[in-house]
Amino acid sequence: MQILVSGAAGSIGQAIVPALTAAGHGVTGLDLVETPGHADGGWHVADCTDADAVLDAVAAQPLDAVVHLAGNPAEASLPDSLASHVLTTAALLDAMVTHGVGRLVYASSNHAVGRTPAGELVGTDAAPRPDTYYGVSKIAAEALMQLFADRHGIDAVACRIGSFLPEPVHRRHLATWLSPDDCVRMVEAALAAPAPGFATLYGISANTRAWWDLAPGRALGYHPQDDAEAWAALLPQRPEDDFEASMVGGPFAGEGPGARRSTESASRPEPFAQSAPAPAHHRVVVPAQHRLDRPQQRCRPGDPEIHLLLEVEPRAAVRRGQQPAHPPVEVATDRGLQAADLP
Ligand SMILES: NC(=O)c1ccc[n+]([C@@H]2O[C@H](COP(=O)([O-])OP(=O)(O)OC[C@H]3O[C@@H](n4cnc5c(N)ncnc54)[C@H](O)[C@@H]3O)[C@@H](O)[C@H]2O)c1
Repeated sequence: MQILVSGAAGSIGQAIVPALTAAGHGVTGLDLVETPGHADGGWHVADCTDADAVLDAVAAQPLDAVVHLAGNPAEASLPDSLASHVLTTAALLDAMVTHGVGRLVYASSNHAVGRTPAGELVGTDAAPRPDTYYGVSKIAAEALMQLFADRHGIDAVACRIGSFLPEPVHRRHLATWLSPDDCVRMVEAALAAPAPGFATLYGISANTRAWWDLAPGRALGYHPQDDAEAWAALLPQRPEDDFEASMVGGPFAGEGPGARRSTESASRPEPFAQSAPAPAHHRVVVPAQHRLDRPQQRCRPGDPEIHLLLEVEPRAAVRRGQQPAHPPVEVATDRGLQAADLP
């Protein structure tokens, strides 16, 4: 297929573009920024809120499908959120109709139903229950997709992504994780599903503790292979965990300890969901990412549970589970040691 990927320079784009290219698709990137170098089929620097620029980008090469990832994955004002998610989707759908492109795969979000209580498996037929203006905008973008499916016969698959991360970092991710490999499987399935019309699936891995129903995705050919459960023993307990497990949107889902106030936050809902601002030079315990005895070798689930006690500056040091540059000030092999126990 010939595929235009908007937001191709972003974290999901940089996982999807090389994989689609390796699978034999012709991939053209579109982003606000220059190519990081993965797309073989060209690159457009354009703003997807600019309908004329989008029309030009879609017209520039033959296309079978658009994968729409462009957008601000953080909470913002309502006008900014609507521009980032709804106007961009409208510009692409309009251009697709004009140029006869029949399929859209869209990166929607779990925050479209974020204030749904966690417990019963949430289906794609659940009522919209956004937790933020971000979630409102994702729901509105999905409504546009439904309109274009009905009015113009576009096949449009909305993938409500959970937490796209190299590996789970917080306990919420035991339910919400989407692995990079499963993300590729999800996009490939959404591109290939025969005549889906407008359809929705949940973009999570095959997590034992999943909060969302994977059956609609499986019906579209999405068969995730990874399971966050393999990391369960490695993820430290945090005081916020109970709140984050109460509604499927986690820290963005309203009031409570660990909650974020939606409209004021400039932080990313996913995958950088953190619930309390860390003071400068915070002492934290993180699971070791590399074996201490063999530093070149990454820890795997099942390895002895070793934690590093670190003094870190910003929490950026531990987001994404990256090995912080800071030297460990103490090494703990006590399996029960938790961040909450620290001074
Ligand atoms: N990462 C997740 O866990 C997650 C979860 C749910 C939904 N999503 C959605 O997936 C999509 C991609 O997320 P990501 O994590 O890769 O985000 P990202 O911020 O890493 O990448 C987004 C990319 O889109 C580009 N972009 C933003 N606005 C644009 C515009 N108006 N025109 C053109 N390009 C624009 C940015 O330059 C960036 O390269 C977003 O729509 C996000 O809402 C992500």
